[in-house]
Amino acid sequence: MPAFVSAAPRLKPTPATAFPARRILVGVAGSIAAIAVPPSAMYMRHVVGAEVRAVLTRSATELISPRSIAVATGHPVLLDDGDGAGANDPTVVHLNLTRWADLMLIMPATANVLGKAAAGIADDALTTCILAATSPVVFVPSMNDAMWTKPAVQRNVATLKDDGYGVIPPAVGLAAVDGKSGEGAMPDIMAVLRWTRRFLDAEVAGGEAQASSPIQG
Ligand SMILES: Cc1cc2nc3c(=O)[nH]c(=O)nc-3n(C[C@H](O)[C@H](O)[C@H](O)COP(=O)(O)O)c2cc1C
Repeated sequence: MPAFVSAAPRLKPTPATAFPARRILVGVAGSIAAIAVPPSAMYMRHVVGAEVRAVLTRSATELISPRSIAVATGHPVLLDDGDGAGANDPTVVHLNLTRWADLMLIMPATANVLGKAAAGIADDALTTCILAATSPVVFVPSMNDAMWTKPAVQRNVATLKDDGYGVIPPAVGLAAVDGKSGEGAMPDIMAVLRWTRRFLDAEVAGGEAQASSPIQG
């Protein structure tokens, strides 16, 4: 091989046992952190070796191109047309995606989506997917610290946790377009997957403990 041709290092997917979910449905809401979704989807797809699909809110499509997410995931995305069915592709409907997924990652999750999910509202494609989910659902909140620390948002987070959803604690960092740093920033994808793995492992351990409990009838 000529000296100027070097073998490019190839990304090797991690072994199938490395991450417990293999089919990840990403729900993208209208936070500025949505711009991190295409590289995160590529990481999950090519490094973790998961299959990734996505559903976007209308606000999300104002902040990130659905096409870039479709390219990053390698699949058409579910866009909102008001009834949970994808306007762009009749085969991409909420029930197909929620039945397919073994994990739903709401990333980024806006204050609005946290509130709607806590109240059981399903008035667009993303919130319909959350309510129709048959897999574990993990929220990755992203907002500025003024929003994150509001009692209403914290109440909604507490309700979601009580209902069995995972809610990843946000990082301290740049969360707002005003350039101010504070609590509420979206953690990077590796931190998200580490946290999610612990959540899924705890769910399995909790389920097994409950199944073997003598109190179970
Ligand atoms: C440029 C821009 C950035 C925004 N970033 C955030 C954010 O980081 N977090 C958040 O909760 N809302 C953010 N919002 C407000 C949401 O987009 C707004 O509440 C919207 O109704 C959310 O809709 P959705 O939850 O259906 O996506 C932002 C709005 C704009 C215009």
